[in-house]
Amino acid sequence: MTQSAPLQKRLEGKTALITGSARGIGLEIAAAFAAEGASVAVADLSLQDSAAAAADIALKTGAKTIALALDVSKEADCEKAVEETVKAFGKVDILVNNAGITKDNLVLRMKEADFDAVISVNLKGAFLMAKAAARLMLKARAGRIINISSVVGQAGQAGQANYSASKAGLIGLTKSLAREFAPRQVLVNAVAPGFIRTRMTEGLKDEARAKISELIPLGRMGEPGDVAKAALFLAGGDSAYITGQVLSVNGGLYM
Ligand SMILES: NC(=O)c1ccc[n+]([C@@H]2O[C@H](COP(=O)([O-])OP(=O)(O)OC[C@H]3O[C@@H](n4cnc5c(N)ncnc54)[C@H](O)[C@@H]3O)[C@@H](O)[C@H]2O)c1
Repeated sequence: MTQSAPLQKRLEGKTALITGSARGIGLEIAAAFAAEGASVAVADLSLQDSAAAAADIALKTGAKTIALALDVSKEADCEKAVEETVKAFGKVDILVNNAGITKDNLVLRMKEADFDAVISVNLKGAFLMAKAAARLMLKARAGRIINISSVVGQAGQAGQANYSASKAGLIGLTKSLAREFAPRQVLVNAVAPGFIRTRMTEGLKDEARAKISELIPLGRMGEPGDVAKAALFLAGGDSAYITGQVLSVNGGLYM
């Protein structure tokens, strides 16, 4: 009887830094990458939350993990997070810009500070993190940057002008970075999730949830794992000829 070779894990030997990964979609991405052999830096606002998530992932997958505290809207924090990841793992192969916030309101009631805060975390944060990590990736002539956008950035949404603008901006950022970094084989793509069950959407009333599900051709809200699988594809060897793209994970909500 011939013995088949053990399946190689998809991210064996790679290192990944994922922002906003102490919970929700980011946590699911970090766990999925670790399960595929990556060493993972869990980075979030609170060191305590990052540490709990990093320990849990390490326990479940056996992967190497570190915990980092950062606010992605601060350049010094972003640079330090990259430095600490390099100190621990020697390099950063994959960056996932997942940290995001909402501060919803109708435009006429939206405060300038709420517009600025959302743009600052969701859009400027991704720019700062990409800038900090790209130095190494461009030198290594390899790397992946994955930006978590949203269906709201593609289609717009009443009550979310700030969030929608930040997520549409992320798509423009993704395409510009993809063009700028392609000569050095650094690939930059976005994932645009639809409505996914996390803390961000748990405030929705049952009625709103039912209405949303009716609008979704696949008839249900998504799970964080649905998004993590798309990110895993964009981080791994199967997407080596894909850059500057937006992968929608929305059950057909927006086509
Ligand atoms: N849940 C959805 O339906 C949905 C849909 C489309 C896109 N998204 C996007 O997916 C990403 C993850 O969302 P989620 O649903 O898991 O939300 P979540 O609120 O559960 O998680 C967001 C994480 O980001 C962290 N964070 C917030 N501000 C930060 C900052 N300044 N610096 C570092 N970390 C920060 C939070 O602490 C939290 O751990 C976000 O970018 C969100 O916009 C979510």
